[in-house]
Amino acid sequence: MAEIAGMYEHHIFMNKSTQVIEEAIWTKHYSSNHQILLVGEGDFSFALSLAVSFRSGFNIVASSIDSYDVVIRKYKRAKTNLDRLYKLGARLLYGVDARTMKLHVDLHMRKFDRVVYNFPHAGFFGKESDHGVIMIHRNLVCSFFKNASRMLRPNGEVHVSHKTKFPFNSWNIEELASQSCLTLLECVEFKLEDYPGYNNKRGDGLRSDEPFPLGKCCTFKFVLSSTAKKSTTLHHRNHQVPLEIPLQRANANLFTNHAPVIDSGECFRIFVEYFNHARSTYGQPDCNLFGSVSNHLRSGFQRYITEDHGRQLIGYVNLLEELRRLSERRIEFFRNRLREIDHRRGL
Ligand SMILES: C[S@@+](CC[C@H](N)C(=O)[O-])C[C@H]1O[C@@H](n2cnc3c(N)ncnc32)[C@H](O)[C@@H]1O
Repeated sequence: MAEIAGMYEHHIFMNKSTQVIEEAIWTKHYSSNHQILLVGEGDFSFALSLAVSFRSGFNIVASSIDSYDVVIRKYKRAKTNLDRLYKLGARLLYGVDARTMKLHVDLHMRKFDRVVYNFPHAGFFGKESDHGVIMIHRNLVCSFFKNASRMLRPNGEVHVSHKTKFPFNSWNIEELASQSCLTLLECVEFKLEDYPGYNNKRGDGLRSDEPFPLGKCCTFKFVLSSTAKKSTTLHHRNHQVPLEIPLQRANANLFTNHAPVIDSGECFRIFVEYFNHARSTYGQPDCNLFGSVSNHLRSGFQRYITEDHGRQLIGYVNLLEELRRLSERRIEFFRNRLREIDHRRGL
């Protein structure tokens, strides 16, 4: 079977030089070209809001500390939101603790342009103004910063949206960030209407699914202190149209386009390492794809066969065929995009 996997490899790995120039889609502070990690999601409606506006979730890893079953039980819209995110290509993780996430099996090798925790809150332990309660929340945010600061790509940012009135301002999140060498870049008013479909959630107790009053709140944007020094000169350049388009958006177009019909759910599941790898190497021209793609296809085979020893091998070949079809459609997509670009440049 390893040989069969090998036969398909050359169809599937990405051409290193395939890069398409295209404008990124921006939603407030977030771009479709950013690798974005969302931490402490409630009903995953914030992740969905971004993915819908990007028309793809390929650049999004959305996580909750809760298990899938708990999320579904807690929030009535969660299942629909998660299904939609999955179809848009987002990576969904459960059991991700903001205090230790750097060590999480699916995250320890990953770096992000944005690590975002909206309205961190450790749960309801008494009056929010009690010193002890404030300390519990501060410990959570402090540990989150410790992890997030080590998960950033160059020029990456850690974002925390937070209420700015008492007692929340006494968490002093700037000071907590500074303990992880993070410096405040800016603090921008958080407006619910910037994220259509997003529903802020209490996230704990019997009323988990209810919203909490936002009042005055901001998105605090932090950068590593070393980046902060350079950022004044780089800031404008960062917001110009990037020269390279990561491949996720193109992939997402392929995977959300309905013709021809494919059962990409099973294909995604069996070849999860392959898709994760495509996502994480997207836009990086210097990756050695050949060896890693072979390994990821082999992992897919192992998953297929160990899940159910009675399975027929033809089922695996069908999945490889599906992956090949996806790959061909992706190549076709790039060919068309490159033609369009040549056309625009008058070549
Ligand atoms: C106020 S809710 C906000 C939920 C969501 N971010 C939103 O904006 O609707 C706080 C969230 O933090 C999560 N949380 C609490 N402790 C956490 C931890 N150690 N790691 C990750 N998430 C945590 C809760 O499960 C809850 O979803």
